[in-house]
Amino acid sequence: MDTNYTVENIRLSGDASPAPNSLDAFFDHLTTVFGPVGTPRLYFQNHWFADPNRDDKGVFVAICKSPAEIASSVRVYRRNVNFLEDLQYSVGGIGDVATLPSHTRRGLAQRLLQASVDYMAATGIDVSVLHTSTAVPLYAKLGWKVCVMFLTTCEIGAGLGPLAQPGLQCRQIDFEADLETIKALYRISETQLVASFRRDSDFYWKEYIGNYQDSRRTVISGIVTGQDGVAGYAILEASNAELAQFRSHPETASAPTINIREVFVGRPIKQGQVELVPLDTFARYLESLVAWAISRLGLTSTDAAKLRFPSALLPNEVLDRISASTGSAWASRTHRQNVQDGGWMWKIIRPIRLPSPTPGEEQQVLGPGDEDDLAKYLRQPVGIYCGCAGNIACPGTERYGFLRSDSF
Ligand SMILES: CC(C)(COP(=O)(O)OP(=O)(O)OC[C@H]1O[C@@H](n2cnc3c(N)ncnc32)[C@H](O)[C@@H]1OP(=O)(O)O)[C@@H](O)C(=O)NCCC(=O)NCCS
Repeated sequence: MDTNYTVENIRLSGDASPAPNSLDAFFDHLTTVFGPVGTPRLYFQNHWFADPNRDDKGVFVAICKSPAEIASSVRVYRRNVNFLEDLQYSVGGIGDVATLPSHTRRGLAQRLLQASVDYMAATGIDVSVLHTSTAVPLYAKLGWKVCVMFLTTCEIGAGLGPLAQPGLQCRQIDFEADLETIKALYRISETQLVASFRRDSDFYWKEYIGNYQDSRRTVISGIVTGQDGVAGYAILEASNAELAQFRSHPETASAPTINIREVFVGRPIKQGQVELVPLDTFARYLESLVAWAISRLGLTSTDAAKLRFPSALLPNEVLDRISASTGSAWASRTHRQNVQDGGWMWKIIRPIRLPSPTPGEEQQVLGPGDEDDLAKYLRQPVGIYCGCAGNIACPGTERYGFLRSDSF
């Protein structure tokens, strides 16, 4: 690497001093790089202070000697990720990858990513994951491999179905009072979705998930309850730029896409346990939440807005059944599209054990370089959908998808 740069960690103490690697300088650096695309400083501050696993030794910066400034940065976010069958691995989420425009193409990002890999190996992280829309080749050079995630887009304007839902009440989630219910519902993901994150701390729930700060997006967190003791919640988001465009030019602008970051419906039974509900109940609660979110966003159910979610969350077969049993046009085949997100990349840091894709066969051990096998594992097809009661065979749908509220 160019001798004009040194690789360092950020320094937490002495923030008041003008150290070029102080935490404040790190936030300033990220704001300089990402500010022009609309990400405010508050977003990075919140990602730091709301993260109970934050580790300054996992933040790498390249300091330029002259002028003395952060030229590039990479941060490792420490999480635990759920695989199926009670398997859990520690994961290093790569984020805050940013090189000042005046210092690009000198190998700085690569150098810091290598330092991050060494850090992950030395501190017990098993696998690494990241999402990028623009820089796949950068990460591919260091061994991360793309694992496509399938998403589904539905036209909500096609009709949300019978929306008058007597007895169902939607309101904003109160991350204090509703926390136990939400946590119990979220646990449904552990048996259903591969690669969802564990959320072990109430602090993380309240501050990272519940207090999401990003002026580029409007996040709607809603809970729906019914008299039958069933509850559901959803966290949805829409791009502010799309919303503003649509509000000012409703005739010509395309209607916004509403992304479902997570949605679960169930009947809390006792301490942290949830019973799954039949599909028609599930669909009724889901539609109520979506209708409520649409009105909160200032849209109407006849606007041509789209709903997007990981296909693993609501497989095609589940949507077929919803459309057949409720008459909800949005869920029908003619109003849905399956799309791919090729920006998710994984890298194995230390050997991990996974159940064999063939039932009855021994576990397989995957090590660094076996990312293609990891991708196959992540994308194992769902046999039976288990987000609602009753069996729905979903032979071709993958179980992989569902990271958005934890994103870094
Ligand atoms: C992407 C970014 C981090 C690269 O930083 P960098 O320090 O210039 O990266 P490196 O010099 O280590 O480049 C390594 C490789 O990344 C790829 N790369 C770097 N910049 C690129 C660009 N603008 N377009 C396409 N590929 C790029 C190239 O493959 C490059 O290798 P090469 O120079 O041998 O062709 C930097 O341009 C940046 O901060 N961009 C804005 C923020 C951003 O997009 N961050 C990544 C979010 S996932």
